[in-house]
Amino acid sequence: MCGIVGYLGNKDAVDVLIGGLKRLEYRGYDSAGIAVQNGTGVNMVKEVGKIRNLEAALENTPLKGNVGIGHTRWATHGEPNQNNAHPHTDGSGNIVLIHNGIIENYASLKKMLEDKGHTFKSETDTEILVHLIEEFYTDDFEAAVRKALHEVDGTYGIAVVSTYMPDHIFVARKGSPIVIGVGKDEYFVASDVTPLVQYTRDVFYLDDYEMAIISKKGVTTKTIENKKIKKNVERVTIELESIEKGGFDHFMLKEIYEQPKTIMDAMRGRIIKDEGIVKLGGLEAVADRLIKARKIIITASGTSWHAALLGEYLIEEFCRIPVEVEYASEFRYRNPIVGEDDVIIAISQSGETADTLAALREGKRKGALVLGVVNAVGSTIARETDAGVYIHAGPEIGVASTKAFTSQVTVLTLITLMIARRLNMSSETGKAMVDELLRIPEKVQIILHQNDYIRDFARRYTDERNFLYLGRGFNFPVALEGALKLKEISYIHAEGYPAAEMKHGPIALIDKDMPVVFLATKDAIYDKVISNIEEVKARGGRIICIATQGDDVIQKYADHVIYVPETLKALTPLLSVIPLQLLSYHVAVMRGCDVDQPRNLAKSVTVE
Ligand code: G6P
Repeated sequence: MCGIVGYLGNKDAVDVLIGGLKRLEYRGYDSAGIAVQNGTGVNMVKEVGKIRNLEAALENTPLKGNVGIGHTRWATHGEPNQNNAHPHTDGSGNIVLIHNGIIENYASLKKMLEDKGHTFKSETDTEILVHLIEEFYTDDFEAAVRKALHEVDGTYGIAVVSTYMPDHIFVARKGSPIVIGVGKDEYFVASDVTPLVQYTRDVFYLDDYEMAIISKKGVTTKTIENKKIKKNVERVTIELESIEKGGFDHFMLKEIYEQPKTIMDAMRGRIIKDEGIVKLGGLEAVADRLIKARKIIITASGTSWHAALLGEYLIEEFCRIPVEVEYASEFRYRNPIVGEDDVIIAISQSGETADTLAALREGKRKGALVLGVVNAVGSTIARETDAGVYIHAGPEIGVASTKAFTSQVTVLTLITLMIARRLNMSSETGKAMVDELLRIPEKVQIILHQNDYIRDFARRYTDERNFLYLGRGFNFPVALEGALKLKEISYIHAEGYPAAEMKHGPIALIDKDMPVVFLATKDAIYDKVISNIEEVKARGGRIICIATQGDDVIQKYADHVIYVPETLKALTPLLSVIPLQLLSYHVAVMRGCDVDQPRNLAKSVTVE
């Protein structure tokens, strides 16, 4: 949510900033701007829309310099227009600031500043912060920044440049991620590592209430209380090709196609096949507490919440430990019953989702063991949990999550196996499950071979207004995820429901204009799902079925069938979700939607 970049060194700052903003564009893309220092002045260009619009504006107004900051925005306060785009300046134009997060007490601060004679050009909360710095500045700029940060409630990741301190960038963090890249005689600032890796792999992360003062002489790190601190430089290992499209039309399609590999990567080195057991290094130290848990609470947002729901189905079925699944945004505010015998698992691709982070902090405060299932290495959730398991899916750039979902479900299956084998699961069942889990990547590949078929029939569904997704058991969370994928990227309204629950409401919607996607793979409740399909067919609904390879009978009920290979019931979601990802992708592309950057959404939601 909002992308921040900064550069100080010998390169052309505009090139670095624009390149960086393009890598961060998935975080927000309604407007963008950069400010570059040149001698003692700071010049700025901002534009509404994507980074390409900003590039075009820079052709008319070129900027030159070796120090600068840039921002790509996801609007919170004020509509996307040029005034509201970042960077923002103080009244004198000497202080220039970019911000990710929300200043919650901006209204009272604005009133106070207006009373003192400040006038504002935008409707943003951010502009208040830059005016506060102006208000506090006398002769020590750094002190003014610190003082301003003490006044604001809410969250911030900021970068500031000023004519008062040429060739310096001031950055600070509370709640919104900031990483600093250390090169040779140059420094980079960003919201995540993707803009940095082409220049340097040496990075360090700011923690909450920390700031860095970057100049040609080096970086000083301190708390906003002005206490010097030492940060450890870490090595980032992600490969450049993992953040490029690599010949695919969209990141989303590339990421769908990566799944045979990413699912395998989630399992690599973690399975002892002959014994049917799972070893998760990150959980070794807490394994005893985990298997003795009175209750496990899994908390997450968005697609990760759907993975959490599957976690409940898996853990309750195989470990017999009670599981609750909570929307992080609800959990954090409802004074949940959590104690020291409970375990909280926070699932997050980005590791930065504000609600999920707040939920895990709430759980921690109440004494629970807090674990993370996270993709982004070094992210805040990964650092704040007591222990955890990385899903190792590599950077996910498409805003709609695909490969992270299947990797999360793979890791939850591993966690389930780890617990269950220590409790009551036999080695025979354990072996059968890990054998089958290891076969999932090749089975995903078989589904991907049907891409052309799915694209061809998707053509018939591009003008729909509504879709219903129905599934039961392990396929119910998949129905939710299928519906979410479609609405996120194609803007077609879609609902996921437990198939049998359809009778209690959604059935009223069924007619020839309501395509219904049934997850009808062969399992113990297959016959029940067929009855639900009959009910829809009797009312003229059009039916798309996800079915198990070899099930010819289903053809007579469905307008279109996508087959997935047979697998164990508990592993079905890893296969049945793949056709739904492809269906959404093709429908959205044919509708002319921007699948990688759908309107109004952002990949990493760092505001609540
Ligand atoms: C946003 C993204 C979703 C994602 C959700 C949770 O809404 O658009 O794709 O599922 O945040 O994100 P997380 O990084 O915590 O998994």
